[in-house]
Amino acid sequence: MKALVLAGGSGSRMRPITHSFAKQLVPVANKPVLFYGLEAIRNAGIREVGIVVGATEPEIRDAVGDGSRFGLEVTYLRQDAPRGLAHAVLIAREYLGDDDFVMYLGDNFIVGGIDDLVDRFRRERPHAQILLTKVADPRPFGVAELDADGRVVRLEEKPERPRSDLALVGVYLFGPAVHEAVAALRPSRRNELEITDAVQWLIDRGHRVESTLVSGYWKDTGNVADMLEVNRLVLEGLEPSVDGEVDEASELIGRVEVGPGARVLGSRVVGPVVLGPGSLVRDSYVGPFTSIDRDCAVIGSEIEYSIVLRGARIDGVGRIESSLIGREARVVPAPRVPNAHRLVLGDHSRVQISR
Ligand code: DAU
Repeated sequence: MKALVLAGGSGSRMRPITHSFAKQLVPVANKPVLFYGLEAIRNAGIREVGIVVGATEPEIRDAVGDGSRFGLEVTYLRQDAPRGLAHAVLIAREYLGDDDFVMYLGDNFIVGGIDDLVDRFRRERPHAQILLTKVADPRPFGVAELDADGRVVRLEEKPERPRSDLALVGVYLFGPAVHEAVAALRPSRRNELEITDAVQWLIDRGHRVESTLVSGYWKDTGNVADMLEVNRLVLEGLEPSVDGEVDEASELIGRVEVGPGARVLGSRVVGPVVLGPGSLVRDSYVGPFTSIDRDCAVIGSEIEYSIVLRGARIDGVGRIESSLIGREARVVPAPRVPNAHRLVLGDHSRVQISR
């Protein structure tokens, strides 16, 4: 069995962060979200992984390498443009051969891994096995309709009027019959080759499509709110450790990880919080569910329920909450006169200013 991990696409819902890098590399508890998927695949006993990449190929390659540090053999498959999830299967045809495979969307996060799903697929060998989960608003997802016996009868991609509250989770298991399906597809309304249409093709031709309802936690990390929520969830399992310096004037409460070379000076940190290598927290408060990546500085400020990316500096600005702060960003006070906000915002930035 192989895995096909999708790490192309454009990441428009995560702008401006994803103007500068791949959305699958946005860190959760200081580790790229993609790595959690690769670890889940490895833990399910799969070694050969094809990673579909687009314009952000160099940075994905840089982060993942040949996969050996995950115990994987990674092959990169270049997709010329984000032409759809089924298009990714199409271009992977040669790599996949006639092997069964798990298709894993690189920005999806599944708690508890995929071992049970892979085991079930290996036992039952359907043509396709999909994962469903109940969501409050299914419109941004693929949506499944089941019959009275619980069999999938219809799938629709991002319907305006969903027929159920069952969203497709971004992990799919396929046997080789899917290749015939994707080869027969035409582009959808949004001009993509949809994997939902490929699965519908299988259903319509009487192929066996199984579904599993996952009650565990799943998130498509496509937007900032979901990203912060996944970060919270991962930090819930944090083991406290201090490899850096914490001075006597500081207080660490609960589960706090202080990375090598990181310093906490005159500050109060209430976990779960992870502070990356080389970062500095001085005269500040860092509250629960905050991830601060390497080489950041938080000085004379308060921050909670937030993700701060590599090299950012927050200095003298009161309290920040529910925020995603990009790499090398600067958040600092304006001069007293005139009393005005001074902003240098990238394209698609969003700022909420408290008055
Ligand atoms: O997250 C679950 C949802 O994922 C499902 O409910 C939907 O049925 C499915 O279509 C998909 O919807 P999204 O709109 O979230 O897909 P997105 O465009 O974000 O792409 C998912 C991942 O696949 C992302 O890591 C980018 C990558 N990708 C996407 C496309 C369209 C590629 O590598 N190539 C592509 O052509």
